[in-house]
Amino acid sequence: MKRVYFDHNATTPMHPEVAIAISAYLCELYGNPSSIHWAGREVRKAIEEARELTAGFFKCPKQDVIFTSSGTEGDNLAIKGIAWRKGNEGRHIVTSAVEHPAILNTCRFLERQGFRVTYVPVNSQGIVEPDTIRAALAPDTILVSIMYANNETGAVMPLSEIGALVRNAGVLMHTDAVQAVGKIPIDMSTLPVDMLTFSGHKINALKGAGGLIVRKGIEFERLLHGGHQEQGRRGGTENVVGVVALGKAFEILGKEMAAEVDEVRALRDRLEQTLFKRIPDLVLNGPPSAMRLPNTVNISFRFVEGEALLLNLDMAGIACSSGSACSSGSMEPSPVLSAMGVDPTDAQGALRFSLGYGNTAEEVDYAVESIVSVVDKLRAMSPLWHPKV
Ligand SMILES: Cc1ncc(COP(=O)(O)O)c(C=O)c1O
Repeated sequence: MKRVYFDHNATTPMHPEVAIAISAYLCELYGNPSSIHWAGREVRKAIEEARELTAGFFKCPKQDVIFTSSGTEGDNLAIKGIAWRKGNEGRHIVTSAVEHPAILNTCRFLERQGFRVTYVPVNSQGIVEPDTIRAALAPDTILVSIMYANNETGAVMPLSEIGALVRNAGVLMHTDAVQAVGKIPIDMSTLPVDMLTFSGHKINALKGAGGLIVRKGIEFERLLHGGHQEQGRRGGTENVVGVVALGKAFEILGKEMAAEVDEVRALRDRLEQTLFKRIPDLVLNGPPSAMRLPNTVNISFRFVEGEALLLNLDMAGIACSSGSACSSGSMEPSPVLSAMGVDPTDAQGALRFSLGYGNTAEEVDYAVESIVSVVDKLRAMSPLWHPKV
């Protein structure tokens, strides 16, 4: 059976060059990077090289990069770290209604500890409007956390504008850039944010590795108490393989991202445009392509149940998603689509296609044919479907 992977926002395949780069660290180079002897030193060197490559990609000082176990840990570290350190200065945090659970559930946890959290709404395209942030700021706001791009719709937030107004108000700004990294250019030397989260498995590196960039001078509480790793900011022997993979992935992105993004955008546009041409009664969930990640399209197939569509496409070898990966299995309409005001029935019929490294035009064409025939089949069984003749 043909296999087509259109779920790169859930996770990505490892880049072959990353696999080569890490292979030596699976057996030959096994030292503990904290050891001062030869075995430790060669591994310490690899970690610091990866940190340099990461910093080079983001255009930030090397010391600002903290490697973590995931994007989730990076988000937790930013939010709990600031809340716990600055809780005596203020107990108010601002975030948005469409953040990943790594942010939302961390904020809910802090609410149980007596913090106040404002979840600003999004507009019908899924975008956080800067005025809503301005209105949410209070004298005791200590942190604003707004994602750079949304995992379900691909909506890219006006982060420069939001960051500038937050900083003007003297408040710290964090962004969960897990989905934006590698898909849109990010330049920390000009972007007005203080902390930024990234994750390895969304950029063709490894699962279980990620990081947080924290600008010099920002004090935060550590999550993991232990040794002096990561300059005393995160205890625990480093995930050497994961960190080396991240460094290599950033090196590759630095060279190839622009061309790769153009290719992926062309494939995504081909998929999106052909589906809208071939299938009636589709609704685009999210902003127009200029304000969207180049690899993502989220579409409601009216009169069809998203889960049924997903399973039928799976049988045809096509992997896509009916919501964020973390909530699949649940039949609740996606909270992101609900926050955008998408009609609950339309939300139930929504599918996300997210393309990436390795996809081809042939795969797009195969997927289109499969989607057209599955939608036809499911609509023919739906009592609600009345084709326009
Ligand atoms: C926007 C966003 N933030 C955070 C995460 C969590 O990253 P990780 O899987 O590395 O914990 C994800 C993963 O889906 C994500 O899409």
